[in-house]
Amino acid sequence: MRRPLIAGNWKMHLSPSEGAALATMLRQRIGMRSDVEILLCPAFVALQAVAEAIRGSEMKLGAQDVFWRDSGAFTGQIAPPMLMAVGCEYVILGHSETRGRFGVADPDMDARLLAYFSETEATLNRKLRAVLPHGLKPILCVGETLAEREAGQTEQVIRTQIEGALDGLASDELYELVIAYEPVWAIGTGQVCDADEANRVCGFIRQTLRDRYDAELAEFVRVLYGGSVKPSNAHALLHQPEIDGALVGGASLDAKAFEQICYCAPQR
Ligand code: 13P
Repeated sequence: MRRPLIAGNWKMHLSPSEGAALATMLRQRIGMRSDVEILLCPAFVALQAVAEAIRGSEMKLGAQDVFWRDSGAFTGQIAPPMLMAVGCEYVILGHSETRGRFGVADPDMDARLLAYFSETEATLNRKLRAVLPHGLKPILCVGETLAEREAGQTEQVIRTQIEGALDGLASDELYELVIAYEPVWAIGTGQVCDADEANRVCGFIRQTLRDRYDAELAEFVRVLYGGSVKPSNAHALLHQPEIDGALVGGASLDAKAFEQICYCAPQR
């Protein structure tokens, strides 16, 4: 059985001391749960402080992005071994916000500025190839925009994102892969994807793995849902057979809300 994974993506929130305070609170509430894997993904600068706060508990640490080279003249970038050195076990890759696909329209982000968030299938493929040999577990985010959904392109967009990111990787390299279905229109909007529909798309993601690789890998890989997950909708989402956990944004910044979401995960 796939163990549920509940991940908090703190995005660009919380300083090291604020992050450590939240992690300490969570540790006291849910830090020793082992039936559900609980993961915190703070900003780079808070990784060390959060690592110290959760040391000795069952909670896991993850980063929100990584560069694909181990070292070199890449100003401003963070390498996979650096994440390992501070205790990261996971890394989020291809979040729609690093792809420049925002759920909430931001007038400050015109087309020229969006190029700054320039994640592509090709860069994601490099990142996956870089992290997997280190044993750093990738959480690959995929998902369609509202316009793509309305144009009936959801499956096509998701298949292209998965096939592009996994290009050239073999089945036996992908057992630690986690895929998160994050419909862009549900991120930060409060407009959650209906649980049945989220289950259907997560099933499609699993089918894509089955078609491209094999049934064994498809049954092993965890597929999460992300996008406006709250205590009020988490139970319905997390009890869907194809949904193995949640990638939580806003609600993961609130200890009580995140704890409640973790308690909604089924015991599998
Ligand atoms: P929200 O839960 O704030 O909608 O964010 C979801 C998300 O982007 C998690 O990665």
